Amino acid sequence: MERTFLAIKPDGVQRRLVGEIIRRFETKGFTLIALKFQKVSRELAEQHYAVHRERPFFPSLVEFITSGPVVAMVWEGDGVIASARKIIGATNPLNSEPGTIRGDFGINVGRNLIHGSDAPETAQYEIALWFKDEELVAWQPQL
Ligand code: CMP
Repeated sequence: MERTFLAIKPDGVQRRLVGEIIRRFETKGFTLIALKFQKVSRELAEQHYAVHRERPFFPSLVEFITSGPVVAMVWEGDGVIASARKIIGATNPLNSEPGTIRGDFGINVGRNLIHGSDAPETAQYEIALWFKDEELVAWQPQL
């Protein structure tokens, strides 16, 4: 079964959007298998965003993701990686469709509320970076 890594960023937490954001993945039908609330260390932030290391916005990206607590999660389901990206919307909230998380709640590319893995390899890397194997709780929805 496919898995993806999602993290509600400090702006999502500060704006009290945690419940609203989680609700969208639950009601879609995906299965939550891991969740933690934590301040992100600089080391974790730099590893998580390693692919952006050379970008001009990298320092502000790390600064922001370490500025307050985030909600880190793993979700499971067929096609969850691509579907979660659709639910989240385009990276720049000004280009995100209404009905997506970023389209409904944001206007700033650096404050775009939530991160979602963009491909199977990224999901695997990010899940292993943020969670230990024993923190992933596999369960079967009965409904
Ligand atoms: P995220 O999906 O977490 O992955 C990389 C992040 O870089 C992206 O969301 C944006 O929040 C952030 N970012 C900040 N500035 C820019 C920019 N100018 N262009 C693209 N992404 C940016």
